[in-house]
Amino acid sequence: MDVSSYKPKGKIDHKHLLNLLDYSQSDIYEILHLAESLKTAFRKGKKHELLKGKTLAMIFSKSSTRTRVSFEMGMHQLGGHSLFLSSNDIQLGRGETIHDTAMVLSRYGIDGIMIRTFKQSDVEELARYGTFSVINGLTDDFHPCQALADIFTAYERYGHLNGLKLSYFGDGNNMAHSLMLAGAKTGMEVCICSPEGFQPNPEITEAAKKFGKVTVTTDVKQAAEYADVLYTDVFFSMGQAKDPAKEKALMPYQVNADVMALAKKDAVFMHCLPAHRGEEVTEDVIDSERSVIFQEAENRLHVQKAIMCLLMGKR
Ligand code: CP
Ligand code: NVA
Repeated sequence: MDVSSYKPKGKIDHKHLLNLLDYSQSDIYEILHLAESLKTAFRKGKKHELLKGKTLAMIFSKSSTRTRVSFEMGMHQLGGHSLFLSSNDIQLGRGETIHDTAMVLSRYGIDGIMIRTFKQSDVEELARYGTFSVINGLTDDFHPCQALADIFTAYERYGHLNGLKLSYFGDGNNMAHSLMLAGAKTGMEVCICSPEGFQPNPEITEAAKKFGKVTVTTDVKQAAEYADVLYTDVFFSMGQAKDPAKEKALMPYQVNADVMALAKKDAVFMHCLPAHRGEEVTEDVIDSERSVIFQEAENRLHVQKAIMCLLMGKR
């Protein structure tokens, strides 16, 4: 079944969004449908205070523009409240454990925690010990909210997801992992095109392959041909040191006009942002009409509002 023919039930059976591995196709369709109606309400200026009285705490151990602002504005638009907790300012940054942080924050009536950090295991530990919902706002391994906003953007563009080919070029990082999972679970064909040594984690790749059509290749032409969505991300993710050898290995995977020319005529360019023009993508591609980067960025707001409503709404 495609997302367009799915009949939403208005609920999902999850307390957390940690990595998408445990999310079914229906769970993802629920999120996309609710995001669509919340986007319509937002555009029409209609009130939609579905999380009145709820509080989301946001823990950041890495920088952010989109994630921070879209979660904070999302909570505000849903009638709730948000707390920004930089790990530099709370005791977590001085060595207090995730366990103790979870136990303490559980005592204050917090309904959800969005956390952006390094280790995926920290996000999972927070979920294990806290009483609140936990939403992964990016780890070294996954960025599920971004991937869901991206497939929502593809759905808006094409009216369906089934059978679309999404090709990701570059570092086999957190974005590659989450796109493999979100794409495979929604009937997309996901092709990850990365050089040897920088390919996605084999365990996550194998897991994603169980859900749908996922391939990993070093062949740019094979990846770009017939692609509906061409995606790339930075060579160096947050927390990674610049490495000239990695840059050299990734340069041939740059999304430029020649790569775009191999794809379908109506193919779009996507990037989670922030971007480095001249590295993973050329200026003429990212600033072209085929680029939907700001639509993706906007869709973070709508998709995350849907996620928060479905996870925190009835708590
Ligand atoms: N794409 C994304 O997560 O952006 P920020 O790092 O600005 O939150
Ligand atoms: N892969 C990038 C994504 C940023 C949104 C990083 O982790 O820095």
